[in-house]
Amino acid sequence: MSAKIGEFRNVKSLFAADRKETEELLIRATRDIPFEPVEGDGAIVRDRYGNEYLDFHSFVGTANVGHGRIPVLWQPGKILNALPNDFLSVPARQLAEKLIQITPIRGDKKKVLFRSSGTQAVEAALKLSMAHHHFNPRESQSPFCIGHFTNSFHGRTLGSLSITDSKREIRRKYFPVLDWVLYVPIPFPQCFEIRGVIPENASHDRCWNSWHEELERTNPGFMERVHELHVLFMELVQGEGGINPICPRVLDYFAGECAKEGVVIVVDEVQTGIGRTGEMFACDAYGFKPDIITMAKSLALGMPLSAVVANIEYDEDGLDADTFGGFTLAAQVALSVLDAVPIELERLKQENSFQIIEQVLSGFDRTLVRDVRGLGMMFGFDIEGVRGDARRQLIDRSLEQGLVLIGAGRNAIRVMPPLAITKEELEMGLDIMENVIQKLS
Ligand SMILES: Cc1ncc(COP(=O)(O)O)c(C=O)c1O
Repeated sequence: MSAKIGEFRNVKSLFAADRKETEELLIRATRDIPFEPVEGDGAIVRDRYGNEYLDFHSFVGTANVGHGRIPVLWQPGKILNALPNDFLSVPARQLAEKLIQITPIRGDKKKVLFRSSGTQAVEAALKLSMAHHHFNPRESQSPFCIGHFTNSFHGRTLGSLSITDSKREIRRKYFPVLDWVLYVPIPFPQCFEIRGVIPENASHDRCWNSWHEELERTNPGFMERVHELHVLFMELVQGEGGINPICPRVLDYFAGECAKEGVVIVVDEVQTGIGRTGEMFACDAYGFKPDIITMAKSLALGMPLSAVVANIEYDEDGLDADTFGGFTLAAQVALSVLDAVPIELERLKQENSFQIIEQVLSGFDRTLVRDVRGLGMMFGFDIEGVRGDARRQLIDRSLEQGLVLIGAGRNAIRVMPPLAITKEELEMGLDIMENVIQKLS
């Protein structure tokens, strides 16, 4: 008999065979959850034994609009793998138009570049900002100077890895990567006051002051040298780093300084984009307009598609290309996703789900759970136990009850259900988590 959500299933024995089969075939990546989903509907997924699970991380942010909700577009006799690098493609053009219309970028000369993964989008944004630098040289531009925040995650290819600071183990063997580039790590200005919404008229004195102290300690005099940067990469809510929303006051500071000094700002929305933070982009939630936005993951519901939307000057000649970037099938899926997201966000608002997630998480047992933080449907909290690894135990015990959770950063649990989740499913998932935590404490 297959288990429904909330009923016990022995995940260890269920998945032992699957894991063995998989490990004999695949080089190990980050897989550490013994879970093999085969089908899904909205926020519910099923394993190959028919057991049901509630997905509480949207497959690491790739299934924002929910599983199985976009019709599969394979139509016999139609060309669906056209590649817009070499040929024109109507869906890719329509998608570019749509992205230009909805992305909150400074200026009105936006253009789109399609790629096939998050890291490829970040690489393309790096190249675009370098091309901008060659096109528009300023004084003392050598070497090319990239600012990035501590605890950041921008990808695993060599360029994006060089500005990734969380998960140090993934850089260890390869760093420094681009040795003609100067990297400027800036302490991440975390804001703990952001719980679901960004508080209006808050002074943010506490996060501003602690950021400023840390900056002076690690990079004294940086504030007088912001103009030495050529580009600044940032996540507005760090995902892999532990679900950390940025302090709005520090963001305003960089917005002002970078605009004044001609420093390009790239906001990496690979994880925060496509409705995750309660708005289409985290930039919308913060009311912030950078020069470049990168997006991927949920853009085509986990199909390999990413995009860079930019408004900077560069010479397009020989810039970059990617065989699969913007292929027709993925672009068609993305168009459907972008239509579905505002509808789901509106429903979540009507059902009060943004408040429910914030209130329930904030009420969790304080002996283990600390610092609940996040925006929209992107929440995290730290969990530390007296007995062993409390986070591991929470993930394993929840999976036994049919709730799929993953961690983020060193101590955090990531709570990112699909936007398709119903109020009842959300409450059920939070309930399972709360019960498991109570038994751990
Ligand atoms: C903010 C951010 N940027 C880039 C990436 C890399 O994306 P991908 O794994 O598709 O290369 C990730 C992946 O988690 C991410 O969260």
